[in-house]
Amino acid sequence: MRVLVTGGTGYIGSTAVDTLLTQGFEISILDDCSTGHADSVPAGVSFTQGSLLNPVDIANALTGCEAVMHFAGKSLVGESVQKPDLYHSVNVDGTRNLLDQMHNAGIAQLVFSSSAATYGEPLETPIKENAPTKPTNPYGATKLAIDQMISAEAASRGIAAASLRYFNVAGALKSARGWLAERHNPETHLIPNVLRSTPENPVKIFGTDWPTPDGTCIRDYVHVIDLIDAHIKALHALKPGNHDIYNLGSGDGYSVKEVIAAASTAVGFEIPTTAAPRRDGDPAVLIADINKAKRALDWIPTRGIELMVADTLASLK
Ligand SMILES: NC(=O)c1ccc[n+]([C@@H]2O[C@H](COP(=O)([O-])OP(=O)(O)OC[C@H]3O[C@@H](n4cnc5c(N)ncnc54)[C@H](O)[C@@H]3O)[C@@H](O)[C@H]2O)c1
Repeated sequence: MRVLVTGGTGYIGSTAVDTLLTQGFEISILDDCSTGHADSVPAGVSFTQGSLLNPVDIANALTGCEAVMHFAGKSLVGESVQKPDLYHSVNVDGTRNLLDQMHNAGIAQLVFSSSAATYGEPLETPIKENAPTKPTNPYGATKLAIDQMISAEAASRGIAAASLRYFNVAGALKSARGWLAERHNPETHLIPNVLRSTPENPVKIFGTDWPTPDGTCIRDYVHVIDLIDAHIKALHALKPGNHDIYNLGSGDGYSVKEVIAAASTAVGFEIPTTAAPRRDGDPAVLIADINKAKRALDWIPTRGIELMVADTLASLK
């Protein structure tokens, strides 16, 4: 089966490309490389350097494909507050274009990268898929709008789809071409930033007075290899006319201080930090209830925070 991986030169998409190739899938990539890296494209893979905003690029990239894994998009919460129109355009209008071109090409299988940002401030934790969705920033609102658009597409055109709501993705994959890891600029994710912390430029801890045991925010981290494993299981489980939503995390939480402690152990010295004020819209605790994915996809994440830190560290060397 040939799968179109949109965003296939980005952090998570490039890991998907490598894993799918290893498992015998054929791959096409559509990516404009706005935040991705063309050097991650493996030799021999069909690569359209183009945009979700250009239907011709999408149609070309879809040639010969039977399914789509849709990772492409804008994903910085802070930037989405500054540029909500850009986020709506790329994420929502871009996905509309993709769905229309899939329909034109008769391709009816889709796995989409959604986000925990669709839920906003949780009323209950761990968060289940049927929790209220009240995004607190434009990025989360675009992911929710896309999930709703995909539900409508399944109902009206009968596509088989899954939205995977990631919590915090971390870790890296060592491929035959070297490490596939986070190369975001700016990097907003905690683990790479903790590992890059220096006495001159210490990593910031946003709030040390949260209602948590050590006063820092608690988040749920999932290793990118476990995450891609869930994508492949979701692809195999797709049913025509159905749109399933699954949370992907570990089902467990780590505080910012616990992540820093794990990183300090990995590097062998105490990571320098500095206290900073709380950020608006940051909930104290975000933990996924992953029982639906475990049950329906027979998926179990097996890689813990120590391995996420160790792989990220190895990728930075
Ligand atoms: N990293 C996380 O923790 C996390 C959490 C929740 C959801 N997600 C979602 O997962 C997906 C992948 O995230 P990532 O961390 O790999 O980000 P990334 O920025 O590394 O990858 C996104 C890719 O999309 C491409 N892209 C952007 N706009 C495009 C356009 N108009 N046309 C074609 N390609 C375009 C970029 O060049 C990049 O390669 C995103 O949709 C993101 O919202 C990520």
